[in-house]
Amino acid sequence: MARILIVDDEPAMVEVISNLCRERGHQPFPYSSSEEALEALAKVNPQLVIVDVKMEKVGGFDMLRECREKHPQSAVVMITAYASVETAVEAMKMGAYDYITKPFKVDELQLCIQRALDYQAALRENTYLKKELRDRYKFENLIGTSERMQEIYKLIGKIADTDSTVLIQGESGTGKELVARALHYNSARQHQPFVTVNCSALPENLLESELFGHKKGAFTGAVVDKIGLFEEAHNGSLFLDEINSMTPQLQTKLLRVLQERQLRRVGDTRNIPTNVRVIAASNEPLKSQIKLGGFREDLYYRLAVIPIEIPPLRERLEDVPLLVNHFLQKYAAHSGTEVKKIDGKAMERLGRYTWPGNVRELENAIERACALCENDTIRTGDLPPHVLQDSEVLEAQPEAEWQVGQRLDEFVRNQERKYIEMTLRFNQGSREKTASMLGISIATLYRKLDLKHHRI
Ligand SMILES: Nc1ncnc2c1ncn2[C@@H]1O[C@H](COP(=O)(O)OP(=O)(O)OP(=O)(O)O)[C@@H](O)[C@H]1O
Ligand SMILES: [Mg+2]
Repeated sequence: MARILIVDDEPAMVEVISNLCRERGHQPFPYSSSEEALEALAKVNPQLVIVDVKMEKVGGFDMLRECREKHPQSAVVMITAYASVETAVEAMKMGAYDYITKPFKVDELQLCIQRALDYQAALRENTYLKKELRDRYKFENLIGTSERMQEIYKLIGKIADTDSTVLIQGESGTGKELVARALHYNSARQHQPFVTVNCSALPENLLESELFGHKKGAFTGAVVDKIGLFEEAHNGSLFLDEINSMTPQLQTKLLRVLQERQLRRVGDTRNIPTNVRVIAASNEPLKSQIKLGGFREDLYYRLAVIPIEIPPLRERLEDVPLLVNHFLQKYAAHSGTEVKKIDGKAMERLGRYTWPGNVRELENAIERACALCENDTIRTGDLPPHVLQDSEVLEAQPEAEWQVGQRLDEFVRNQERKYIEMTLRFNQGSREKTASMLGISIATLYRKLDLKHHRI
């Protein structure tokens, strides 16, 4: 049974949450006045505080600050309105354990309470105390407040301080390296080296000696002893980028090093102990490579102790404006010029493009626009032509036509065709990708589209 302090100036909300806590065998301390709640804090000494962000007088953030300062062992969960995702992120940065957006489902709240209590129990056991709580969300370089990104921030916060191997997967340009850095620089290893190696950049034997080092005379050209990147990263983190291009033989060697926590330099007989946190990245789903026989399943499971999936930018287009502003400032700082503005139309176009090259492509588009733009405001004419073309096609999409009096099969066919065409545009005209996304064969795709009549 846990003591749970609940503060919301909507009494109905307080009651709902209190009842839920009671049902679950906890002891709720309900308050609809934040001032009274604040006074009661010391006396109640709750394991968990659930507090609404928006309240009169003493606001949710003041409560949060007070809790963090005077009662660091109470976990805090914030309740926010739908519209204020930024507020939620701010709350996490200030050390709230979690937040939940209104309206929420009972299950959702209950899960959130349970997780917070588990975490708080671990806190009491002193396992998490090593690290200042409020440091957990210092990810200055990672921009984006979409739900998917927030999940990633939370995950980084939770696992940064463990030694578990992490596998980061996502399309090219989604920010895998940034996430790897955030993991390292938020971990206890932050003052130790962060070493990166791109596994696709070197042929197999060179990569092997690059990773594990070699002994003088091990092969032609090995004129001196050389320590490898594993040893360089000792006590720190090693980022194995594009792990998908590692050959099966080398995968086997890597697996052995990870399992035995010791390595052998090429041509040497000694074993050298290693203490390295490995973070691997792949821009292709490794699971499908396993099926094709290109990646060892056992290595996959050894790497993906904690998997992080970074979504493509097109699945979080709401992050585009923030990223654009970030890159405008970055460009200005680099070039020593004033920060450029961007007009609404241009921003809208950027928010409607599918970004096959993800954040990197967006960054390049902004850099290009800044360089081209002759005054202080970027307009649509400064954007790359393909971005304009693509976002225009989407704009020209007709509204769904719902006519009464149509035969049902005709209607279904029509809607089906529109949906297929939209998917085709999304895949930039690739019929293979479209067919696979829709789960139909190419032949079916052709038939359904009656290609003679439809330009794609
Ligand atoms: N969330 C983000 N916030 C700010 N910048 C980002 C974000 N994601 C990516 N970037 C920027 O986009 C560029 C590409 O990111 P990064 O190199 O981390 O991608 P990647 O997933 O490793 O790509 P690749 O698979 O091609 O190596 C970098 O300049 C990075 O700073
Ligand atoms: Mg990369």
